[in-house]
Amino acid sequence: MLRTAKHSRNRQPALWGALMFPLLCTPLRALEGAMNSAPVRYVPDLRVWVLGTGRTTYVMGLNERGELQTLYWGGKLTSDHDLSAARSHAEHVSFDSSETMTNLEYPGWGGRYYNEPALKVTLASGVRDLVLKYASQEIRGDTLEIRLKDIQYDLFVKLIYKVFPGEDIICKQAVIENHTPQIVTVEGAQSGVWYVPEGEGYRLTYLTGRWANETQLIREAIHPGKKVLESRRGNTSHNLNPWFAIDAGGEADEEQGRVWFGALGWSGNWKLVVEETPAAHQVRVTGGYNDFDFSWPLQPGESLGTPPYYGGFTSRGFGEASRLLHRFERDQILPDRAHPEVRPVLYNSWEATTFDVDEAGQKVLAEKAAKLGVELFVMDDGWFGKRNDDHAGLGDWYVNPQKFPHGLQPLIRYVNSLGMDFGLWFEPEMVNPDSDLYRQHPDWAMNFPGRPRSEARNQLVLNLAREDVKEYIFGVLDKILSENKIKYIKWDMNRHFGEPGWPEAPLAEQKEIWVKYVRNVYEIIDRLRARHPSLDIEACSGGGGRVDLGILERVNIVWTSDNTEAFDRLGIQEGFSLAYTPKVMSAWVTDVPNLNGRSTPLSYRFLVAMQGALGIGANLNKWSPEDFALAARMISTYKSIRETVQQGDLYRLCSPREGALTANQYISAHGKQAVLFAFLHSQQYVRPLPALCLRGLDANALYRVKRLDEKVVEQQPVLSGSFLMQHGLNLDLRGDYDSTLVILERIE
Ligand code: DGJ
Repeated sequence: MLRTAKHSRNRQPALWGALMFPLLCTPLRALEGAMNSAPVRYVPDLRVWVLGTGRTTYVMGLNERGELQTLYWGGKLTSDHDLSAARSHAEHVSFDSSETMTNLEYPGWGGRYYNEPALKVTLASGVRDLVLKYASQEIRGDTLEIRLKDIQYDLFVKLIYKVFPGEDIICKQAVIENHTPQIVTVEGAQSGVWYVPEGEGYRLTYLTGRWANETQLIREAIHPGKKVLESRRGNTSHNLNPWFAIDAGGEADEEQGRVWFGALGWSGNWKLVVEETPAAHQVRVTGGYNDFDFSWPLQPGESLGTPPYYGGFTSRGFGEASRLLHRFERDQILPDRAHPEVRPVLYNSWEATTFDVDEAGQKVLAEKAAKLGVELFVMDDGWFGKRNDDHAGLGDWYVNPQKFPHGLQPLIRYVNSLGMDFGLWFEPEMVNPDSDLYRQHPDWAMNFPGRPRSEARNQLVLNLAREDVKEYIFGVLDKILSENKIKYIKWDMNRHFGEPGWPEAPLAEQKEIWVKYVRNVYEIIDRLRARHPSLDIEACSGGGGRVDLGILERVNIVWTSDNTEAFDRLGIQEGFSLAYTPKVMSAWVTDVPNLNGRSTPLSYRFLVAMQGALGIGANLNKWSPEDFALAARMISTYKSIRETVQQGDLYRLCSPREGALTANQYISAHGKQAVLFAFLHSQQYVRPLPALCLRGLDANALYRVKRLDEKVVEQQPVLSGSFLMQHGLNLDLRGDYDSTLVILERIE
């Protein structure tokens, strides 16, 4: 695309057995003038489409074979002189097919295509060959639709591109349309492929982990071959997250360097294939439905849509990549995107009571929580059916009459009278074999007839792909929400799929369970929200097992991890923040010693949790008056900075992966407030901490420096942005697990 690109460089004939194709358009024709600023436009002379965001450009074109080819993705191109027509890669040898060496925008598996394909099908005739060429286009404002068609059959793919100019993000989606008179079986359907510019030495950043250790950041070199990031578990999973970032040869850091990044909006089996092709060294990331155990028969006239696959670029490093994504999530994805709201401070009963909930006990906790300034009181697991531990009750969504003899109303009224909203825990997708629901409908659990049903946490997964099961679960939730003043539900999922059988469906459609299940979860949530517009939802899957841009379109917040130990949390939260806004990062203050036996001061635990959406999960019955006083002060401080934390820009100053000091800074939307959180996990005796340079401030402005404690050494209450960014702040952190919060208010 750029004139130095190999597409325009190599135009020698193929040597070994390849066909030569006539050129169908004017080569390298330069256009006059500066680049038009429309988000989507077509340049007919060159047959290229230019997608433009504020600071990036994405270009595709039709090559001489009529294939749609990716031409450029990166920083803003400012002149049409830089555009040129698409040219397929020349073929030098019969082993390196041109179509494999060419950056095909949406490659079908067919002909001699050997890279990871975007689409694989089997036609009724037995043909398994799919060669997609351009058919038509339509531009509607910030949206482009390009239809491709197989060279023989009426099998179409509609590629949908939506441009988000303000956030420098582009979304790709594909819809596979069967207009043939026969069934087409889709065996792999991706949303698209992102290509970074040609070159070697790229580096991949991704998020991995496990239960209680989610979103751990990994950085590694990309070499020829494939790296598969995926879930085969039925939901997003704790183990890998559908997000990636690529930078050129370690060029980028938090502050600078080119970073290409992407994320999938899907909460089921997903797959990202990061590939460097051995011959042409194309570096590409294919993303969409996981094709493992995937099969989707399309009847004539039917279509299959794929999840949204978002991509973005910045030349300002990983920090800016995250800020773009955070802004995008807040402005374009989250349910409150039209009218952003700050998240309330919540209390959750789980770690205090586990299953041992009842009306009197919850009222005691509620009263204490209200005194702290908590705004939302959430009763967790244990309130329904015969739920005294995790062996029974899931599926029986009626109020336990022993624990709540008068139903939920007295507790809800009490919570409301204390000035708090009420929230309730559910795990709608699950059933315990020891439940009335399972005794009545054993066939509602996923199963392969006659085979064992593997339990995890003593529970089975309901087959929500079934319409009757979906309707039942929707009805049960809708009834409870209609009969009670419930502001918030925590939607949990505490195991992954096992034996994903759907014996009632026609054999050819049984593998649709993976996708239909997730679509129906989405549908239930969407319908509940429509029926109860003020409802807020937290997505949880044993911690951060369901965190992705698909669920975030329909829930307000996610539970980050069951690991609430504050020091561990710094690492989990850092990884989380690479891809997801702190606004959705639910973070609780809990008791010590925590899961791993570690004890940190209460102030440290608060400051760690105050970097996201603050919650309290401690047993308030065990707190001292001093703990209450400190907590009330912390919560009040949090309320004065939460808009900055939740809706502002995050700068990761020091990573917990790199040293004893962790520091994060947030700047409010209009730059009036900045807050700095700093944590020292262990101090080497007499070793001074370097001054911490802030970022993103107005160099010419003055800031009033307020501290939560007496730890800032500077005597001046007012400092300039220039000083704060160039000299930095000296933080007097000492010992182990020390922490501080500094609040800077810009003087107008
Ligand atoms: C797992 C969640 O992550 C916890 O917060 C809690 O809700 C339990 N499930 C309840 O069973």
